[in-house]
Amino acid sequence: MSKKLLVLNASPRSGGNCDVLCDEFISGAVDGGNKSEIINLRDKNINYCLGCLVCQSSGGVCAHNDDMSEVLDKMISSDVIVLATPVYFYSMCAQLKTLMDRTFAKYTQVKNKKFCLMSTAADNNDSAFDGTIQGFRNFLYCLSGSEEAGIILAGGVYEIGEIKNHKALEQAYKAGKNI
Ligand SMILES: Cc1cc2nc3c(=O)[nH]c(=O)nc-3n(C[C@H](O)[C@H](O)[C@H](O)COP(=O)(O)O)c2cc1C
Repeated sequence: MSKKLLVLNASPRSGGNCDVLCDEFISGAVDGGNKSEIINLRDKNINYCLGCLVCQSSGGVCAHNDDMSEVLDKMISSDVIVLATPVYFYSMCAQLKTLMDRTFAKYTQVKNKKFCLMSTAADNNDSAFDGTIQGFRNFLYCLSGSEEAGIILAGGVYEIGEIKNHKALEQAYKAGKNI
């Protein structure tokens, strides 16, 4: 059955390595007959969570009136959510963490989803991704019925374009096709 996939790309660098990974994933998803959408978070205005808890007493309406409500509703209506982030200081980038924090308004509705993580780093050691993977898993731990459906890592890529021919591209394509 056709699934609804949402790719949330947190890289601030247009045309960078995460962009290429996301493109491969989406090409696989299209070939696999799935409906997919990508949102580049750099194109959205998403403010930091204020921790004010207004959302908890307002039926999920955040104190910020920005683009997150639209993104969150798309997360809720998706079957599969792909999170893409570069490694920054051995963790996920701030744009992805900000998105995670802002799901708080309706996080109980982000349930029974499959999640994939795609990440890039200059460091070529697998351990370079430990902090990012842990943060991803911590997020899933908070979301009811979430399933870790795949982790795709591209190490050893620093400059734009260095991801060309990386084995992670084939993995991203296959993950999109077979999800
Ligand atoms: C602020 C910043 C912090 C970074 N920190 C790390 C790091 O801790 N470890 C690492 O291996 N690469 C680090 N990098 C390199 C990026 O992870 C790498 O260039 C990645 O391919 C960028 O992906 P993008 O092109 O999708 O933005 C850092 C880059 C920036 C700009």
